[in-house]
Amino acid sequence: MRAPVRTACVTGCLGFMGSHFTRAALKRGWRVWGIDKMTYAAREEWLAEFKRYPTFEFRQADIASLDHLYEVDYVVNYAAETHVDNSIVDSSRFLHSNIMGVQNLLELIRAKRHYEMPTLVQLSTDEVYGDLTNGHHKASDPLHPSNPYSASKASADMLIMAWHRTHGVPYSIVRPTNNYGIGQYPEKLIPKAVKHLALGKPIPLHGDGSFVRNWLHAEDTASAIMTVLEKGKINRVYNVSGNYEAPNREVIRQVLRHYFGRSVPLERYAKFEYVRQGEDVRYGVDDKPLRELGWSNRKHFEREIGAIVRYYKNKVVW
Ligand SMILES: NC(=O)c1ccc[n+]([C@@H]2O[C@H](COP(=O)([O-])OP(=O)(O)OC[C@H]3O[C@@H](n4cnc5c(N)ncnc54)[C@H](O)[C@@H]3O)[C@@H](O)[C@H]2O)c1
Repeated sequence: MRAPVRTACVTGCLGFMGSHFTRAALKRGWRVWGIDKMTYAAREEWLAEFKRYPTFEFRQADIASLDHLYEVDYVVNYAAETHVDNSIVDSSRFLHSNIMGVQNLLELIRAKRHYEMPTLVQLSTDEVYGDLTNGHHKASDPLHPSNPYSASKASADMLIMAWHRTHGVPYSIVRPTNNYGIGQYPEKLIPKAVKHLALGKPIPLHGDGSFVRNWLHAEDTASAIMTVLEKGKINRVYNVSGNYEAPNREVIRQVLRHYFGRSVPLERYAKFEYVRQGEDVRYGVDDKPLRELGWSNRKHFEREIGAIVRYYKNKVVW
């Protein structure tokens, strides 16, 4: 007998990471019901690509007010407000989408009969643990979020675990590190740097650029989720780590090298004035349980960054 066809509701399917997962699922022959509110971060251009698959359906909707879930195996929740700086200016949209949105998905799932409940696959983040200068957080570590964005994501994780305990809602929570790849809104470090270069403006860097982030390709995150769903244990939290850890100034050095085709002094193109309140120094997660399932990073930052810089450089509007 052939393998069963998987069905998934992918929320935030037109966002940066959700689009990579949707593409991977459609290529595997999954039936995908995509949902997106289409905020400023959504890219409509993916819709035309996904609609070429007869196995794709789309609905523009807010996860916080969705009133029905079709029968699916998984609800893969990529929908969220995601930019920390925005959450510091005004947290209300973050609490609405990242907390009330998840509460609504949980309620829609629990309204179903037990044997029909889809698994809620929640995209959490390494930021829920807070920062650390050395070492790595395990999935069982306590949560110490530092800003309204990461607090909203930590709250969602707590709600999911409570809805599992009280109502039996099945879940998988994944906590990836910083994602990179094509299709990211230019408020995030790499596309923002390219956009500023294209406009002849200095690249704004937080602090002195020494904050360390761990970089994970969005396609690797998508394959990590597939691995968790196919081989992982249900009702668990899995960390997902990239394979490139570097201070932000080093990331920007690489962007500059690919943008200009030669090494140029960072100080000429960056300004180091901006201070983010509550800035996390470094994140690090231990993802051994995921790697024991056979998953590993396919993408390598130093090999990918050139094509990614060219992609953003050739964009006319962001
Ligand atoms: N980008 C990263 O580095 C990173 C790292 C770890 C975890 N995450 C998590 O992964 C998920 C996806 O991140 P991303 O960078 O792709 O985000 P993004 O900002 O690029 O896209 C988010 C998408 O969700 C949609 N959306 C927002 N609110 C919605 C709502 N209420 N209802 C329906 N759709 C809504 C937007 O229209 C957009 O298409 C988020 O949950 C984020 O917290 C991101």
